Formats: sequence, structure tokens, C-alpha cells
Amino acid sequence: MERIKIALTKGRTEDQVVPLLEAAGINCDGIRNKQRRLIFDEDPRYEIILVKGPDVLTYLNNGSVQIGIVGSDILTEQENFQYAMLDLDVGKCRFVLASTKNFNPQAHRRKIIATKYPNITKRYFQGIGEDVEIIKIEGSVELAPLIGLADAIVDIVETGNTLRENNLQIYAKLQPVNTKVVVNRLALRQYQPQIKELIANLENANQQMVQSKLIKE
Ligand code: PRP
Repeated sequence: MERIKIALTKGRTEDQVVPLLEAAGINCDGIRNKQRRLIFDEDPRYEIILVKGPDVLTYLNNGSVQIGIVGSDILTEQENFQYAMLDLDVGKCRFVLASTKNFNPQAHRRKIIATKYPNITKRYFQGIGEDVEIIKIEGSVELAPLIGLADAIVDIVETGNTLRENNLQIYAKLQPVNTKVVVNRLALRQYQPQIKELIANLENANQQMVQSKLIKE
């Protein structure tokens, strides 16, 4: 049988999702000892590739992979909702508007906002009827208000450590973020039994993880 190809977002999502994949019965030994490898085929049913979040959707939309595992931040930014099949209880965080303590969100002048997510930022400020200038940053967004590039940032906060360690505070809470399993529609028709089985196993593993966390708390 042909392998199902899965694009997994590397980094934090990978770290949190690999235990779930294992709990769903998928061999992830290769990913756990990966060094610079990018393709993993230890499990005979799957081929897992590790890519950056936005690229997960590029591979998925193109049909090169059947399944993507990616943050809802990227799906929302790219307005790409059509394939979401399962919500995972990992990678839970939230978009916030943050800045230094002397930032005045009520100030009337046109603000400069730095972000990795220009579309989400634009929609947020349009929603509150404010016109802002948006500067797209690729990472370490927290630097922008500290170095004088922007008045504030729109970014995701998970533990809050990055904000705290850089003396930034939250001025508004925007939408929550989580990790989603997304499926190419055409692939869903073509590989329905295999994809359904994978989703069911992942759903079970996710539920078990939630239950065991509840018990621990
Ligand atoms: C994300 C986000 C924040 C940080 C928040 O960045 O952009 O910088 O995580 O997490 P925390 O609340 O747990 O501190 P990421 O680590 O993905 O890297 P980047 O700064 O290079 O974008």
C-alpha cells in the first residue's frame, strides 16, 4: 500500500506532536534521533517530512503530501481553513498585542506594529476601526518596540516568558491558537480508509493525553 505523506511543522510543534504520534502507534525513532535528516520512513505506513509551518500548507495545497500538522496561527494568517480535520490539545497559545510599559494604546497618532502575522494584525486593527502601519518581521518580534522599530507587536504568547524576560506587557488578547491536523481534500477521497484510521488514532492519543494531564493536575 502507498505510504501516506505527512508534513510536520518542525521545532516546537514537532516536539509536542511526536509523543502524540507515538501514542497513536506511529514509529518516530528517526525523528527523535534526526540530526539533519528531513524525511522519516521508519513506520512502513507513513513518510513524515519536517518543514517550516507555512511550507506545510504549500506541500499540502500542492498535493505533495496528504496530511499536514500545523498551528492555527498559520492557517488563519493564510486564510486556509478548508482542510482542518482534527484539533490537537498541543501548541496552545494566544495572539496578543504587546509593548513596553509606556505604550499608550489610546494614542491618536498612527501606530507602527511589527509582526510575523501581517494579515491577522491587519484584520485585528480593521476590526477595532484603527488604521496602523504594519512592519513584517521574521522572528524575535519582541525586539521591535525595544529597539524603536515599532510602537507595539502582535505575536503569539505561550508561556509568557519571552515577554516577561524582555519587559513587555500585554495590551490586548486576540484569538487563541492550537495545533491542527489538516488534510488535502483530494487525498481524503483517494486514501479515505488510511486517513480516517490515522485521524481516529490521533484523536484517541490526544484524548488520552488530555485525560492524563487532567489526572496529574
Ligand atoms: C514564538 C513567539 C514568541 C515566543 C512566545 O517565537 O513569536 O517570540 O514564541 O513564547 P513564550 O510565550 O513561551 O515565551 P518562536 O520561539 O517560535 O521563535 P521566533 O522568535 O524566532 O519567531
